[in-house]
Amino acid sequence: MEKTQANIRIEELRSIINEANRRYYVENAPVLSDYEFDMLLKELEALEKEYPELITPDSPTQKVGSDLKQGKELKKEFEQFPHRYPMLSLGNTYDISEVQAFVDRAEKGIGNAFTFSCELKFDGTAICLTYKNGKLFRALTRGDGTVGDDVTRNVKHISNIPQTLTPSSTPWPEEFEIRGEIYMPWAAFDRLNIEREKDEEQPFANPRNAASGSLKLIDSTQVANRGLECTLYHVLGENLPFTTHQEALKTAASWGLPVSDMSKVCRNIEEVEEFITHWDTERKTLPYATDGIVIKVNELPYQDELGYTAKFPRWAVAYKFKAEQALTKLLSIDYQVGRTGAVTPVANLEPVQLSGTIVKRASLHNADQMQNLDIHIGDYVYVEKGGEIIPKITGVELSQRTADVILPHFPETCPDCGTPLVKDESEAKAFCPNQDGCPTQIQAKLVHFLSRKAMNVIAGDATVEQLYNKALVWNIADFYELTKEHLLTLDGWKEKSAERFLSSLQESRKVPFERVLFALGIRYVGETTAKSVAKHFVNIDAISAATIEDLLNVDDVGQVIAESIYAYFKEEANLEIIGRLKAAGLKFEMDAPAQKLSATLEGKTIVISGNFSISRDDMKALIVAHGGKNSGSISGKTAYLLAGEKPGPEKIKKAETLGVSIISEHDFRELIGEVKPEAIDEIEPSLF
Ligand code: IVH
Repeated sequence: MEKTQANIRIEELRSIINEANRRYYVENAPVLSDYEFDMLLKELEALEKEYPELITPDSPTQKVGSDLKQGKELKKEFEQFPHRYPMLSLGNTYDISEVQAFVDRAEKGIGNAFTFSCELKFDGTAICLTYKNGKLFRALTRGDGTVGDDVTRNVKHISNIPQTLTPSSTPWPEEFEIRGEIYMPWAAFDRLNIEREKDEEQPFANPRNAASGSLKLIDSTQVANRGLECTLYHVLGENLPFTTHQEALKTAASWGLPVSDMSKVCRNIEEVEEFITHWDTERKTLPYATDGIVIKVNELPYQDELGYTAKFPRWAVAYKFKAEQALTKLLSIDYQVGRTGAVTPVANLEPVQLSGTIVKRASLHNADQMQNLDIHIGDYVYVEKGGEIIPKITGVELSQRTADVILPHFPETCPDCGTPLVKDESEAKAFCPNQDGCPTQIQAKLVHFLSRKAMNVIAGDATVEQLYNKALVWNIADFYELTKEHLLTLDGWKEKSAERFLSSLQESRKVPFERVLFALGIRYVGETTAKSVAKHFVNIDAISAATIEDLLNVDDVGQVIAESIYAYFKEEANLEIIGRLKAAGLKFEMDAPAQKLSATLEGKTIVISGNFSISRDDMKALIVAHGGKNSGSISGKTAYLLAGEKPGPEKIKKAETLGVSIISEHDFRELIGEVKPEAIDEIEPSLF
């Protein structure tokens, strides 16, 4: 390419890559696949190699992608600290011949016999832990490689990161750093995305984004529930007690640090290739995502000799796997109407194995996607695990198309209520506009309102369907006007079931404001957003009066959410429903901060598990009221595991391993002075 043209393309590539980096590292919502991104970066590298005079220090080829918020996004959510050693990335390739080239370069640079340490490339987000005198001192994200965000308070909620090291035959240096990856196993990722979809929050595109988003949560207690894990793979410091990378990993493991046991020493390229081939298949059975193999020079003095470029170590390279795909037959397409009226085409597939699960359904997103893929019923299609719960279809294998395939037609009217569909602003999604009349949308809103994380009323989808079909409930406020007589008209309902339902509705009047706000089902307002908005405005009248600018001042609220909340409160019908719910006694204001009852539990962290005589939330509040702290996961710092009925066996096991005392609800009440020990003796005989 001629120089002026090259310059134009270089500028263009830099701007695409910078934006893709920001979306990937800062927003955790990638716009390109890893492969597409890596190919663009390689194109830029090739052009800069041809015209080195066009290289600028801020080119994405010269620096690592940054996870720090920049410019107007900067809210300084985390304190920032400089890295003691630059935190770099890895050179990567999808081509085995480039691994050979890496081996050749290393051989040439070293000139002596050496070995390789081959290990899995975990698909998570990089972390740098500093330990001082055997204690976790600080955890920093990679940031821009020079400065990172201090996420120590969040990392303390990741259960396999020790806050205190275990002594072993090798003493630890007074101070050292260990770097690795925080990742979200598939099971936790699927669970999180199911929740997010239910709450109409954007699901994470992949476990890496989910891990990175979770690590940067503002409310650190929420981190404990995200199921994050950590694996560590790089020890740094002065006068370290080892001379090879493998020894470093083994020693770190002996101090209780989480290190993968799947690494291997390889002596030559043949053994490296064998390792790659083995894991290219085996990785599909792992409970977490991996995106390649990292090949490192094993001997630390040789690593020092090879050194670093501005962006990568010269002593390591990543061989990356392409995203896992499966090929299967498209049997039919359903058009599903969601709570907000969006109509999504969902493919029914011949069952096929993919990333550890059997896939039977896949998303087709929208009509454009169907058209772009030129998809026909009966085609063989490629499926990939993406962000949504159900995998997505990424392509059609045209060579396997038969003459009897059928072209599908996206419906023009709602498959449920027959209303003509409308397109959203981007013209991508079709919506049923009949929000207040489309049975699926109405029932989905009612189900959401009663759901566990909203009003927590004991009722299944079938109850809602019955109530709706009998015209007893048309909107969420109608629930509170139901009487026993109404309920007894429903098929199969008896005195007892009616009473249980009514008492559950009665209980729901105590549900805190932030959950009531979530229960209203405002578009894009999931559990987390509802919490932030409720805390910020304190009561519903203030939210109702808020402008879009006011709403944008809330943590986690961007333009789309702000507009949606604003529009909700402009709708007369919604205000009427809120008025009726207020009259029914629901909470539309934050509770006053809990009263402090004592300081008995001051400085004590308590984990709860199982069921108690009061709700789990009330139990947590009781702990706090007595000066204690509640945490979701057990660590060496936990004072007690408070076990109710049916506690989690994992929690019990962990408490036993770490020597954490396990106490019952009775013990706990004794501890906080609610029950006197001798009182038990007095009561018990009278029980017989
Ligand atoms: S070694 C100097 N080993 O992959 C860099 N990195 O795409 C040393 N990664 O930035 C990194 N698994 O966040 C190393 N076993 C492993 C890894 C690994 C995942 C990440 C790491 C790195 C990124 C590059």
